[in-house]
Amino acid sequence: MSPSRSTSDQPARPATTAGVAAVDAAAAVNDAAGPRPRRPGTRAPVRPRALVDARTAAPIGAAVLVGALEPPPERADPTAGPVRPTADPVTAAAARDAGVDLELRLERARADGHVGEVVTVELDGDRPQRLLLVGVGTGSPADLRRAGAAVGRRLGPARSVDVAAVRAARSAGVRAFVEGLLLGAYRPQRITARPDRSGSGPVTVDVRVRNERAAEAVRRAGATGAAVTLARDLARTPSDLKSPDWLARQAVSRARAAGLDARVWGPRELAAHGFGGLLAVGAGSARPPRLVRLEHRRTTRSGPHVVLVGKGITFDSGGLSLKPADAMTTMKTDMSGAAAVLAVMTALDALEVPYRVTALLALAENMPGGAAMRPGDVITHVDGRTTEVLNTDAEGRLVLADCLAYADRAVRPDVMVDVATLTGAATLALGRRQGALFATTDRLATALGRAGAESGEPVWRMPLEDDYRPALDSDVADVRHIGTDPTLGAGAITAALYLREFVGDRPWAHLDIAGPARAETDRDDTPRGATGFGTRVLLRWLEDGARF
Ligand code: BES
Ligand code: MN
Ligand code: ZN
Repeated sequence: MSPSRSTSDQPARPATTAGVAAVDAAAAVNDAAGPRPRRPGTRAPVRPRALVDARTAAPIGAAVLVGALEPPPERADPTAGPVRPTADPVTAAAARDAGVDLELRLERARADGHVGEVVTVELDGDRPQRLLLVGVGTGSPADLRRAGAAVGRRLGPARSVDVAAVRAARSAGVRAFVEGLLLGAYRPQRITARPDRSGSGPVTVDVRVRNERAAEAVRRAGATGAAVTLARDLARTPSDLKSPDWLARQAVSRARAAGLDARVWGPRELAAHGFGGLLAVGAGSARPPRLVRLEHRRTTRSGPHVVLVGKGITFDSGGLSLKPADAMTTMKTDMSGAAAVLAVMTALDALEVPYRVTALLALAENMPGGAAMRPGDVITHVDGRTTEVLNTDAEGRLVLADCLAYADRAVRPDVMVDVATLTGAATLALGRRQGALFATTDRLATALGRAGAESGEPVWRMPLEDDYRPALDSDVADVRHIGTDPTLGAGAITAALYLREFVGDRPWAHLDIAGPARAETDRDDTPRGATGFGTRVLLRWLEDGARF
């Protein structure tokens, strides 16, 4: 942040309002009311709202003014006691106007200006009602993302925010701050008979940013925030409601609202096209599988045709290879890959991605019903290749294999990426804050790695180790879907090697998000529960040219 003290930074000048981003996070989970009457106003789709241009902005009358805590200058004599950070000039002036002694407040709060530190000052006046001062650290996008998230978490019920804290930041920093703010402000909705007045209802945040150059960054942050919110809401929806059919309908309505073409296949079409993996995985459930195909056809510039594939297991019991009870409690989120892919698709238009993107969502419920697939079964995929099934809990790769083979054969894209909560082994390897990335080309791996780092969803490349491939050799089929040598381990790698069998010669990447798709605790821009991971890294990769 620039420590500029120019008098043109005085508050309440409408011309400095750069943009408004808003997220209506009327959660899909509201639909969980099922047969109960639905409350009006709770079914609005998640969408970014108006963007106000710097020149036309209405006067700033936000409830909360967010200022920066700027680090104190280095002091020659460190024994003279701590030096407090200072507020940015806009916020300092607002405090003066309200008769607040900010220096005293910062002293009392023992503020040191570390990244994400928030000092709150309640004001007596009408607007703003509150000042939030936030430590912005070095002003790097990563620091600003954390700072924005800290503000989002501290907003409380306030939903109208005027941000002075990023007035001097570059657009990458503004985007990171506003994304952090919108995602930090995310509140899951409780499913309850009584209307929720606790501040955890639908979230709409109006963010005005005082930064002349930032309108576009704010708009993009709004679109990204809305997409991630959608992915989170869908993944949080309980599986009693979230059947493959329900999720397919959600996908189609969200997609059409975003201007995409959408089509759904049920069991009949799946059988006709040879989707043996998706049908086998769905066979044990009373609620049959679906394949959703979405198309973004904006092709104003030449660019690659991209296929995105999402694992959409609406509940993973393990099937006949039943999971232990404790391992099953979180398995409503086993469709997080499909949710992320859908979320990405809904934002492509707003983010002006200029080339063709096709999405395939493989939706099925993995249950141990009487018609369920059995260990030892051999299933036939789209391309005629066969898989020996040894553990029905390794179901994700079976549905992905169909989609990858179908994409390779029938869609014929330039590059394919799949996203899946595929293996517990990926979580063991990388923990909960990194996705596991596999790629057949270095360029694709590098591009996705950078997109992850810049968008706040880090991914780490893992090897497609040819040496491990013999573990998938089968006596009875073309391939088996899991390695059965207990001394080999490498569960995430063998899963990726299995998928690679179905991609033909096309450049392909696989994101195993079993770890980061969920979080156990609230942290920065990520809430406890479903996180929407995968949405931001893919959107950034697509925005930056989908290099492979
Ligand atoms: N959906 C699970 C993977 C998973 C586990 C995601 C924990 C999130 C948290 C997947 O379908 C699965 O069950 N994988 C098995 C594969 C094994 C049977 C080869 C696993 O990882 O244990
Ligand atoms: Mn499973
Ligand atoms: Zn699964």
